[in-house]
Amino acid sequence: MSPSRPVALVTGGAQGIGLAIAQTLLDRGWAVVAGDADTDAADAAAQALAQHGPVHVEPLDVGDPGAVARVIADAARTFGRLDGLVNNAGIMAHAPPEELDMASWERVLRTNLTGAMACAQAAIPHLRAAGGAIVNIASTRALMSEPETEAYAASKGGLVALTHALAVSLGPEIRVNAVSPGWIDVSRWGNPPGARAPETLSAEDHAQHPVGRVGDPRDVASIVAWLLSDAAGFVTGENIVVDGGMTRKMIYA
Ligand code: NAI
Repeated sequence: MSPSRPVALVTGGAQGIGLAIAQTLLDRGWAVVAGDADTDAADAAAQALAQHGPVHVEPLDVGDPGAVARVIADAARTFGRLDGLVNNAGIMAHAPPEELDMASWERVLRTNLTGAMACAQAAIPHLRAAGGAIVNIASTRALMSEPETEAYAASKGGLVALTHALAVSLGPEIRVNAVSPGWIDVSRWGNPPGARAPETLSAEDHAQHPVGRVGDPRDVASIVAWLLSDAAGFVTGENIVVDGGMTRKMIYA
């Protein structure tokens, strides 16, 4: 392993946006540790990602602080450094607010928000030593909502606030930013291959976006790679919206 290669941990890195982030970072010369709670997906991702560069894919539930500490210590020991943390693992819950089961509220908050804080906490000494960066994958649902998504919206709003709080606490050694994706079609980014049915998107699905299309996981990954790089050295505490312009479009009927 080249000691000069920067190293990133990507949570939820076996599928979807996290898989695209892991692949993009490997293609740009990073070594990657991807942690994922889905062990079948993790096994398949390990094979696919190995073609792109040095990678370890580990079972990881970000809601388990002991597992988080172990995986981050292993990553730093295996590769000798840790330069980037991408808090990408996330889950959704749909329910009318008066019926929302509080156990599912807590599961969503534990994964999407507490998990990100636990990963940041365990990574801080390594990131500080490397002069590294954190990117939190939030959502445009931190800024706008459809009905019956309270737990998810609250978790992502919390993640945007956590981002600027950490940026102020951890500078100047560590930069911390968020990326808020809009509609990203992850249906072709499942693992093992074939595990997901590719979604059929309509012309209207695409055309409603000011850029004329639904997003691809690589649209998010390229912004994450930029935020982790020195090219973004004067950017911290920001939330970059990657949604094809949807949150800038007035939709009054
Ligand atoms: P996905 O479901 O395709 O992939 C998420 C991955 O995270 C899966 O491999 C899953 O096994 C893993 N995961 C779930 N819980 C975990 C846990 N506790 N510990 C570790 N890994 C865990 O989801 P997608 O769409 O790629 O989402 C990735 C991130 O992007 C999430 O934070 C999501 O909220 C966010 N996002 C996605 C959007 C979209 O349109 N796809 C839009 C806005 C935000």
